[in-house]
Amino acid sequence: MKSPFYVTTPIYYINDVPHLGTAYTTIAADVLARYARLRGADTWFLTGTDEHGIKVQRVAEQKGTPPQEYADEVSAMFRATWPRLGCAPDDFIRTSEARHKAGVQDLWRKIRDRGDLFLGHYEGLYCVGCEAYYTEKDLKQPGNLCPIHGTAAETVKEESYFFRLSKYADRLLALYEKNPTFVQPTSRLNEVKSFVQAGLSDLSVSRTTFQWGIPVPDDAKHVMYVWFDALSNYLTAVQEPAERRRFWPASVHLVGKDILRFHAIYWPAFLMAAGYADDELPKQIFAHGFLTYGGQKMSKSLRNTISPADLAESLSPTVGVDAVRYCLMRAISFGQDGDFSIDDVLARYASELGNSLGNLLNRVQPFAKVVPSKGVTGPLEADLAAAHAEGAKAAAEAFDAYNPTRALDAIWTVCAAANVYVDKSAPWAAKKRGDDARLGTIVATLVEELEALSVMVAPVMPSVAAAMRAQLGLPAQAGVVGRDQWPFAAPTRSTGEALPGGAPIFPRFEKEKEQELRARFAPPPEAGAAPAAPEKAKTPPVAAPAAVAPAADAKPAVTYDDFAKLELKVGVVLSAERVKKKDKLLDLRVEIGEAEPRRIVAGIATSYAPEALVGKRVVVLANLPPREFGKGLVSQGMLLAAEDDAGIRLLTIDGESGPGAKVR
Ligand code: MSP
Repeated sequence: MKSPFYVTTPIYYINDVPHLGTAYTTIAADVLARYARLRGADTWFLTGTDEHGIKVQRVAEQKGTPPQEYADEVSAMFRATWPRLGCAPDDFIRTSEARHKAGVQDLWRKIRDRGDLFLGHYEGLYCVGCEAYYTEKDLKQPGNLCPIHGTAAETVKEESYFFRLSKYADRLLALYEKNPTFVQPTSRLNEVKSFVQAGLSDLSVSRTTFQWGIPVPDDAKHVMYVWFDALSNYLTAVQEPAERRRFWPASVHLVGKDILRFHAIYWPAFLMAAGYADDELPKQIFAHGFLTYGGQKMSKSLRNTISPADLAESLSPTVGVDAVRYCLMRAISFGQDGDFSIDDVLARYASELGNSLGNLLNRVQPFAKVVPSKGVTGPLEADLAAAHAEGAKAAAEAFDAYNPTRALDAIWTVCAAANVYVDKSAPWAAKKRGDDARLGTIVATLVEELEALSVMVAPVMPSVAAAMRAQLGLPAQAGVVGRDQWPFAAPTRSTGEALPGGAPIFPRFEKEKEQELRARFAPPPEAGAAPAAPEKAKTPPVAAPAAVAPAADAKPAVTYDDFAKLELKVGVVLSAERVKKKDKLLDLRVEIGEAEPRRIVAGIATSYAPEALVGKRVVVLANLPPREFGKGLVSQGMLLAAEDDAGIRLLTIDGESGPGAKVR
């Protein structure tokens, strides 16, 4: 029996149209689904829209439209976008659909009947942008400003149903222990664990202050909290027709790191409370990083978004979509943040797609119109076969671990080996000396290798794969390559089959087109690029001094060996607290990849609020002897920071190197 594979994206809020940042998750899910299908899994790929909540109600009111009408309009835009990016979800769920409402109410009843929903009162500071309550210490003061939206949180007091989240802390921790890949990447699991270990409060899960939501069963003055409603989509979408139930539990929920907590804590707890056993919970939550643009998260509120369809269309009407998919999956290490840059896209298009993959295809064409007989192979063919075996295996393992970036790296080692093979085997020389047998071996070897590549790139670049296959005289789609047949070795091709060939798949861009693309997709100036120098700075430069004189406070030179004695490591701040009666000190727990987090006492309280530090990546000097700051207050390391008149700023990491990574 085929094993089921069920992958989901978050369902998107309808206060925004899809941009490259949101498209990133959907493209990644599509890649995993295509790969799973190719390997013969019984695959289901779900996406959709998250339509309820006060935010949507207010936008609709402002527009003078009923919320359902507004939701229909924006949801349709999402639905229409995905095929334009080569994404083929099997289902698109909307939280305003009847099937979803019925499913969520059913889940609610199950939890209620088992005793984990109770009526109480909630008073708190609520950010409408986040659809979440905050405590005062989580908000920026003065003014109770939301750390994400910068707007003032509103005080809300209402009757509310509560979910007994506190009851599930131990079972959640046991789940993480038993299934250490429940959250990926692993560094993120540690964040989730620390959050649960710090204690869970019961969760307010209904609202009476607005109507645009799913009514609570038997108490219609309440609507459900949007996250209860939204998370349930993963389950409600595979209830009807009944044969879809085989997909539950989900194999992987792909989410951005900002919504990991909801997925890794609330969601399994809701399911546990509804009676689901551990092996009926989703198997994995994979939290990917953010796509940044000019160094900042790409998002509507920062006005730095790019329309993915626009970008693809401007690159190329034929392969633009696949090139965008490729660049997103290859350039941004899956799981970490990464910056979108048009320069990088152009460089990868020219080199990895054009010179490496595209050119390989064109190197066959001058030598054969049909597949020649392969004949006797020699050491060069053996080298290529070995490189292929290694790269293809690594690619399959990486796709299996939901790491498309590493899979592409591996596939491109095969591509590089095939190009080296052409260089070394020199088909032009065989042709010149009239050695048809050798020429046949070389061309047949290449044709087979290209077929294997067309299969391996298909999950990421489905149309490019089809175009390659057309040039190789193969059907547009490879048949299913089961668990044991992924091109672990290149396939065998029958002699005499046509090789139609064709124009280069990735034609070079003219200089003008490149310039136009660079200008059009340059990062927005307010998003980090240095402002242009003011006119008056354009005075002739003064001559530079012949040698750089040491600054007055310079220290004596050290050798590299001196420097190498420092054990510098990347740390992730797990918690931070003020120290009583010591205004300057903060007491931190910092994860640096050791059995226990380190306790670090840092003199940074005048520059940082403790809550602003949690989750921050810092640089820790780890081999200082412990230092006592007061009775029992012993610091086991030091954080590196820069200091000037403006205050103290911690050194952080560009990207997300895991805790414990060496700093050199
Ligand atoms: N509606 C909730 C999810 C509910 S799931 C039960 C939501 N929606 S969202 O539209 O705001 O975000 C959807 C996803 O897009 C999140 O995973 C978020 O991390 C992702 N991204 C939004 N901007 C992004 C980038 N710039 N880069 C990468 N992913 C980004 O949250």
